[in-house]
Amino acid sequence: MKNQRDAWDEVTSRHIHHPLRAVIGVDDLNNTYIDGSQKRLISRAVALEPSFTVLDYGCGVGRWTLWFARQVHHVVGVDISPKMVETARQEADAAGIQNVEHHTVRKLPLPFENSTFDLVNAVWVLRYITDDDELARTVKEICRVVRPGGHVTFIEKIARRQPVFKEHEGEFSGAAAYRESEQYRTLFEGCGMVMKESGVSSASPLYWPYAFVRDTLKRRGMPDLLSRLAPSIISASITSENLTARMMHFLDDRDIISCSHRFFCFRKPENGNTR
Ligand SMILES: C[S@@+](CC[C@H](N)C(=O)[O-])C[C@H]1O[C@@H](n2cnc3c(N)ncnc32)[C@H](O)[C@@H]1O
Repeated sequence: MKNQRDAWDEVTSRHIHHPLRAVIGVDDLNNTYIDGSQKRLISRAVALEPSFTVLDYGCGVGRWTLWFARQVHHVVGVDISPKMVETARQEADAAGIQNVEHHTVRKLPLPFENSTFDLVNAVWVLRYITDDDELARTVKEICRVVRPGGHVTFIEKIARRQPVFKEHEGEFSGAAAYRESEQYRTLFEGCGMVMKESGVSSASPLYWPYAFVRDTLKRRGMPDLLSRLAPSIISASITSENLTARMMHFLDDRDIISCSHRFFCFRKPENGNTR
């Protein structure tokens, strides 16, 4: 099994001309929906302020760092993969964005003072920390560097009943651990954080049936009649994400459907010290 750093370097190299594919997936329409719907959820959970300093932990190719940078004072993106960090820097340069810095991190502790950040965001990162002790140390560090009154947001693929260890995850040649929601909650609450919100992510009942029919037609070599609808479907799915995420969460809670990606938002109390 490859180490995580090499595995992520390799994925980045494979998708050098389409960096989003290195961090989401190979279908560009799905990527547009997933990216937009995730950002919709985070925008609703945390009111970003122009004075904010944000840490994007596991920044990948910088899809969050650049999005935050357009809305806040300063963003720091860190990642274990030097190639991801290099790509994120190039993306920031190409977009003319200057209020970001990107660094490769090799080990804990994180190189930041206590209470440095108004928000720490870590989308699709924690599952790649497969060792539970290392995950606990990482969560502790994330909570240490967020200021009292600040937030931690993250999205993770979760396990429904018991943790699942994957030696390889799709086209990613490294390992991943899908944990139960409760495990994340316990870890963050154990560090003194308070859960503000948790819900399903990117589970649109409009987008996914559309994508299923589109892919079926393509597989059967039938005329592609649906691609012209894609922009409207994606836009309507993203706009209705907050509503549909609640509906899907309701069904998921009752075991009627199964949604595997979950969004979490934790807040550090004003008088909060990390434990
Ligand atoms: C699926 S990508 C997500 C990237 C980005 N957060 C996004 O949502 O676009 C996972 C990223 O986590 C990084 N990563 C994995 N383990 C890490 C760790 N222990 N510390 C920091 N970054 C890590 C990988 O190098 C990769 O860039």
